[in-house]
Amino acid sequence: MASASRLGLVVLVAMASAASAQLSSTFYDTSCPNALATIKAGVTTAVQNEARMGASLVRLHFHDCFVDGCDGSVLLADTGSFIGEQGAAPNNNSIRGMNVIDNIKTQVEAVCKQTVSCADILAVAARDSVVALGGPTWTVLLGRRDSTTASKTNAENDLPPPTFDLQNLTTLFGNKQLSMTDMVALSGAHTIGQSQCRFFRDRIYNETNINTTFATSLRANCPQSGGDSSLAPLDTQTPNGFDNAYYTNLMSQKGLLHSDQVLFNGGGADNTVRSFSSSAATFNSAFTTAMVNMGNIAPKTGTQGQIRLVCSKVNS
Ligand code: HEM
Repeated sequence: MASASRLGLVVLVAMASAASAQLSSTFYDTSCPNALATIKAGVTTAVQNEARMGASLVRLHFHDCFVDGCDGSVLLADTGSFIGEQGAAPNNNSIRGMNVIDNIKTQVEAVCKQTVSCADILAVAARDSVVALGGPTWTVLLGRRDSTTASKTNAENDLPPPTFDLQNLTTLFGNKQLSMTDMVALSGAHTIGQSQCRFFRDRIYNETNINTTFATSLRANCPQSGGDSSLAPLDTQTPNGFDNAYYTNLMSQKGLLHSDQVLFNGGGADNTVRSFSSSAATFNSAFTTAMVNMGNIAPKTGTQGQIRLVCSKVNS
C-alpha cells in the first residue's frame, strides 16, 4: 500500500513536470492577444527592407535552440559575469538580426508588459520569415522563458561547423533528439540567405564533388586569399524564395557548403534529398514538422528563467 502510494506520487510528479515542460499554441491568447500580430508586423517590415533578414532570423532561432535549448540565450550580450554566445566561432561576425528582435521586443512590450519571452519572439519570427519569403506556415508552440545566462563554450560545442560530414551532422542533431530526416529538412533552410566566402572557399577550390561551372563562377568573388566576407547565395537558383530548389542544387553538385553537399554524396541521406527535391509538399511537411521539433528543444517553462524586458540583457 505504502509503495503503491509512493508510486502514485512518482507518477503525479512526473506528470506535473511533463506538463510544465509543454508548450502551447494558445499560451498568449488571454495574456497578450496581440503578441503574434505585433511580431508578424515587425518581421514583415524587416523583410520588406531587406529580404535576407528573413534568412538571418530563421538562423537565429536555430542557433538559439541548439545551445542550451530555445531560451533566447543567443541574444544576450557579454556581461561581467559571463561571456555569451555571440562571440563564439559559429556566431562571430556571422549571426544577424539581433537588432530586429530588439525592435520587435520593444513593440511587444508596448502592448503587453513583461509577458512575451524573447525565445518565443525568435520562434514566431522564424516562422513569419519563412512565410514572408514564400514558404509554408505552421503553428508555433509558445510558452518558452528566457535564460539568465549564456555560454560561449556551449555554442562552440553544439553548433555545427560547415566542415562537418554526414556522420558528424547526424550525431550532433541526434544529440538534440532530431532525426536524420529532421536534419535534412532543416538544412533546407539554406534555400534562403547567404554565406561568406570563408565558409565555402575550401569547397570551391579543393573539393571534387562540385559542379565545375558552379565552382568557377564562385571563385571570381571568393579568391584563394582575401575576400573572406564576400557573399554568395546558399541557393544559387532562388536565393530569396523559400522553396525546395536547395535539394535540386544538391543533386547537381551545386551545394555551396561542404555540409550541404554531404547530404547528397552517396550516403544515407540521398533518398531523402531526392524525395524533397521531387516534391515541394513533402519537403514543406518535413520542414514544418522539424521546425516544431527544433522549437521544442529543452524549453524553460513555468518558473524557470525569466521574461526579459530587453532581449540583449538579463533583467536587473
Ligand atoms: C546542418 C548544419 C548546418 C551548418 C553546418 C550550417 C552552417 C551555416 C553557415 C556556415 C552559414 C553562413 C554564415 C555566414 O556566412 O555568416 C549558414 C547560413 C544560414 N543558415 Fe545554416 N547551417 C546548418 C544548418 C542550418 C539550420 C538547421 C538552419 C535553420 C533551420 C539554418 C539556417 C541558415 C540560414 C537561413 C542561413 C543564411 C543566414 C543569412 O543569410 O544571414 N542552417 N549556415
